[in-house]
Amino acid sequence: MDGYLIDSHAHIADDDYDQDREAVLERARAAGVRLVLNIGYDRDSSLRSLDLAERENMVYAAVGYHPHDAEAVTEASYEELRRWCQHPKVRAIGEIGLDYYRDLSPRDAQDRVFRRQLALALELGLPVVIHDRDAHEDLLRVLREEGAGQVGGVMHCFSGDEELARRCLDLGFHIGLGGPVTFKNGQTAQAVARMVPDDRLLIETDSPYLAPVPYRGRRNEPAHVRLVAEAIAALRGLPLESLAEVTSANARRLFRLPDLD
Ligand code: NI
Repeated sequence: MDGYLIDSHAHIADDDYDQDREAVLERARAAGVRLVLNIGYDRDSSLRSLDLAERENMVYAAVGYHPHDAEAVTEASYEELRRWCQHPKVRAIGEIGLDYYRDLSPRDAQDRVFRRQLALALELGLPVVIHDRDAHEDLLRVLREEGAGQVGGVMHCFSGDEELARRCLDLGFHIGLGGPVTFKNGQTAQAVARMVPDDRLLIETDSPYLAPVPYRGRRNEPAHVRLVAEAIAALRGLPLESLAEVTSANARRLFRLPDLD
């Protein structure tokens, strides 16, 4: 395949991959994936993300505190986050956001931690990787109130409908799509996959979660972003190569990733 794929959201620094991480990256390369943005969600995973990015050329990092962890975040946590962001391979703050589905941290803590990280992203000029679970209205309001459109970012593993996608696009955000576009019951994601403008579409795996068909239910890995790309290319009536080119150009521009061609 000419062109290459970028997995814009994976958690391969997690211990799920401790036994075979090299092989996982090798399979990704064999599938045409040349860059992976590895995403932190708490202190440990952010440090691991930095460490992996230091060891692996093809891996870049995002760092931040997920809403599940919001209650544990202290002033020292923000100082640490600010320090991590100076690392040359950190390209985004994330994943951050609101999660009203599991509500593992109180909502006021989620709101506070989300806003602080958005403010830091604006100060440092870094895009944000957004996690939104059943919190659409509050999430959009916070993004608007904090002026997050100035740095932009991605609605990762976007789970809303076309109308919500339009509102996120209006705020200046990208839409990240993954495994659900391949699911039999993935009609909503498939409709979104058809309507996102070329210059706002990103593809991702969210490994180890959300493996596409035919791996659904198993551990996901960055190589499978190719299956996501194939599904979206078919939905948009494009050859895989064009879809790869468009989505990789978007990921490079948003996250300032190197152009490997
Ligand atoms: Ni994730």
